Amino acid sequence: MTNRIGIIGGDGIGPEVINEGLKVINASGVDVETVDYDLGGTRYENDGTVLPDSVLNEWKDLDALYLGAVGTPNVPPGVIERGLLLKMRFELDLYVNLRPFKFDENNIDFQVVRENTEGPYAGEGGFHRYGTPYEIATQGSINTRHGVERAIRFAFNLAMNRKKHLTMVHKTNVMPYAGDLWERTFNEVATEFKEVSTDYNHCDAACIYMVQSPEQYDVIVTDNLFGDILTDLGGAVSGGIGFASSANLNPDRTGPSMFEPVHGSAPDIAGKGIANPVAAILSGAMMLDFLGENDAADRISKACYEINDGITGTSAIGDAIAQNL
Ligand code: IPM
Ligand code: MN
Repeated sequence: MTNRIGIIGGDGIGPEVINEGLKVINASGVDVETVDYDLGGTRYENDGTVLPDSVLNEWKDLDALYLGAVGTPNVPPGVIERGLLLKMRFELDLYVNLRPFKFDENNIDFQVVRENTEGPYAGEGGFHRYGTPYEIATQGSINTRHGVERAIRFAFNLAMNRKKHLTMVHKTNVMPYAGDLWERTFNEVATEFKEVSTDYNHCDAACIYMVQSPEQYDVIVTDNLFGDILTDLGGAVSGGIGFASSANLNPDRTGPSMFEPVHGSAPDIAGKGIANPVAAILSGAMMLDFLGENDAADRISKACYEINDGITGTSAIGDAIAQNL
């Protein structure tokens, strides 16, 4: 069966790394049909389009979405992030952001399950007395039992297929309401997964452990913002952000899931042919895995981890991986 994939190359190095991802997918023998979408900061600068509802509706019939990176320096912060990326995550109900990290040098092999539709990202809040000396800005965090539970449940199921160790990360000491809901939900779901050993870290402490003893982690589950920060750190301690892949999953499969490298559009190196495409290629492997093409996914990720350090250049790295499948 042909998989129909929506491609959003995006801005900066996005299209370059997605090209390599598609090169490798084609070399793996998996049959894909692609549909291109010109979206991101450049498109917005050209005609003001961010994400039309018609496009969103079209996506609902696709098998997956594969995104490079979006964002250009001249567009004010938030326009593309909230209007495109977060809109995709929320509207397509991509409630798990799964980010794996693997690096032999320091025995890193863990995966972060980042809740992807709620928390501070929900955008609750506002201004009062805007622009006056008495201005007030509030920024809330939305935590629903339903949203927290489904992310935690996904993480327990993932741990069952791995080393059966799950760590919840939060700041229950300073965020008593959200923290309490997370903690109670975590403990209740844990009773259904007696084989999984559990742990809890405050987010700041987790930053120390992730640097000093990252081998202690198997699966981590955490809220949207803590997960955002922790996964940049995860990338930094496991070979660099150029290797960090991610899957924005709708595990219920009521629509397409979206796969993207953790890194951004890196306008400073765009067009130079030097961007590392491995994060995008590994994200492509996660996409194939989710689509049931498990053998091709395994071959691609293995080839990514075996790549010779001496090979440099975006397309040379893509070629080497494509030839090693
Ligand atoms: C990420 C990114 C996004 C996020 C931004 C670009 C909105 O940093 O995918 O980690 O904060 O989730
Ligand atoms: Mn981030």
